[in-house]
Amino acid sequence: MHELIENGALRGLLHEARLRPRSGRLEILDVGSGTGKWAIWAAAAYNDAEVTTIDLLPITGVELQMYPNLHPKSPVDFTERSWADLRVDSFDLVRLPLLCGCVPDWPALLRTAFRYLSPGVGQIEMVEFDYTPRSAPKPLPIQSLVFVQWWEYLKEASNRAGLPMEYREDTERLLEDAGFVDISRKKIRCPYVGHPDDKHDLDTADWLANAVRSFEEDDQRRVLDEDMNAFVALSMSHFTTQFGWSEQVVKRLCYDVLQTTRPQTTCPREYPLYHYMYIWTARKPMN
Ligand SMILES: C[S@@+](CC[C@H](N)C(=O)[O-])C[C@H]1O[C@@H](n2cnc3c(N)ncnc32)[C@H](O)[C@@H]1O
Repeated sequence: MHELIENGALRGLLHEARLRPRSGRLEILDVGSGTGKWAIWAAAAYNDAEVTTIDLLPITGVELQMYPNLHPKSPVDFTERSWADLRVDSFDLVRLPLLCGCVPDWPALLRTAFRYLSPGVGQIEMVEFDYTPRSAPKPLPIQSLVFVQWWEYLKEASNRAGLPMEYREDTERLLEDAGFVDISRKKIRCPYVGHPDDKHDLDTADWLANAVRSFEEDDQRRVLDEDMNAFVALSMSHFTTQFGWSEQVVKRLCYDVLQTTRPQTTCPREYPLYHYMYIWTARKPMN
């Protein structure tokens, strides 16, 4: 997913927000930082920045001493109103990346992020992927119905779990209600099959394929028996707990869904199945 964000959506940049630090060093906060990949890139790219991460889990497998300006904090629960010992009104950028499915209360999270931003210059940046399968202007091909069903099941299961996977179509209003100004949105089309005349479209399709299908082409056994890529893991945790489905049933469903995304088979050029990704930026006004 990182390739899709940094190369596909941001075209090589680390973020969309144009940072305007008050003075001195930039203060950046990555919320729900996961592996810490983005934060490490940011710490390496910005010598003049302090990059802090918060997550329930620690960053592992990285020699953190190589990045003296990186400050990982865990466990920190971003649903709490206070985030560890961080100072409010102090960050130039607070990043909320790919958190759909982890947030029980978006208005509360945005209010907390707002508190930590520096008044006047601090900006929030949200990156979200909308899993809704689309194929406009043509209708979704009949072969994609299993994808539609999977998405309906996932929405239902994640709602039951209290952690909705669905992208919030009302994000602009949520940001306004939290107090943000200068709100802007970038909407990126992510196709499974790129247009042959458009290199960026073709690359985006590759990055999307890498994100959702991290197993060998047509290797059914790996997805059914071994592979637990993010797509399968997400489905597995929700469908086994909320619906009581067996692991084999979930893997079978995932395999069928992923088949519908393959070029030349059930996702031909005339039915270009795609998703949207969104990048929102907004500023905290002066007090
Ligand atoms: C979908 S991952 C996104 C990871 C990363 N931001 C990225 O772009 O790859 C969500 C991350 O949020 C973390 N997370 C989920 N709920 C959390 C919570 N309540 N407080 C802090 N971190 C949380 C998870 O541990 C995970 O690392």
